[in-house]
Amino acid sequence: MTETDSSPPFIRVTGLRKSFGTQKILQGVDLDICHGETLVLIGPSGEGKSVLLKHIIGLLHPDGGQVELDGVNLSEMSERQLLVARRRMGYLFQNAALFASLTVAENVAFPLREAGVRDPGVLAERVHEALDLVELSAHKDKMPINLSGGMRKRVGIARAIITRPECILYDEPTAGLDPVVTDVIDHMIQRMQKHFRVTSVVITHDMNSVFRIADRVVMLKNGVVSFNGTPEQLRGSPDPEIQNFIAGRSGITA
Ligand SMILES: Nc1ncnc2c1ncn2[C@@H]1O[C@H](COP(=O)(O)OP(=O)(O)OP(=O)(O)O)[C@@H](O)[C@H]1O
Ligand SMILES: [Mg+2]
Repeated sequence: MTETDSSPPFIRVTGLRKSFGTQKILQGVDLDICHGETLVLIGPSGEGKSVLLKHIIGLLHPDGGQVELDGVNLSEMSERQLLVARRRMGYLFQNAALFASLTVAENVAFPLREAGVRDPGVLAERVHEALDLVELSAHKDKMPINLSGGMRKRVGIARAIITRPECILYDEPTAGLDPVVTDVIDHMIQRMQKHFRVTSVVITHDMNSVFRIADRVVMLKNGVVSFNGTPEQLRGSPDPEIQNFIAGRSGITA
């Protein structure tokens, strides 16, 4: 999907730099994310994909460069503006990060309560709707400790989508899920785009998912964007490193 020349991209990342101690992670990341597109972020483990997503939602602050949302630099926003900006986004943490003392339904309802929804009927209906999308309605009264890893991840997804955000950032939504549930989640991401024009940024290591859901693929390598194109362009890339990554080859010989 393309933007008209006059409107800024939904999210614009420019020259983003981040180090932890002496470890340089992001070393000048440039990336535009357009309204309504599904952008998939791939790259080797430890390259900074999760770190990049945390900058987009404003949980981490850049050492250099910036993240703009609709043309406004997150670093220049007031606390109040940042809160409003965050409400426009849903975020699935890589480890789901559920509240251990809350039930599934209470975890999912949390962002809606934060947004000021108090009516128990509305809360119950929206929780049901979100859990239904990830096929977990029957488990709403369980505690997180009594769920499988994959179920926890799906509760995290329900919690990310319950406020019906404009943009959803998914950090490995299908890692550890069986192929059928992976298919359910991939379809859900596609449905959200089709019916609600949701913008999605998805980190995944699952190449089947990449080719199923991506409008555009971005690869992060050595602290920068090393590939930015369509899934077809990725498949046809002459770069042997990209071909090895797609095929899951390490390049090591026995
Ligand atoms: N808060 C932090 N403090 C110190 N180091 C951090 C912090 N967050 C991330 N890192 C480091 O930054 C690097 C990139 O981490 P990140 O989680 O973004 O990798 P990733 O690309 O998401 O990998 P994976 O595919 O395994 O999830 C890692 O070396 C990690 O240890
Ligand atoms: Mg990660």
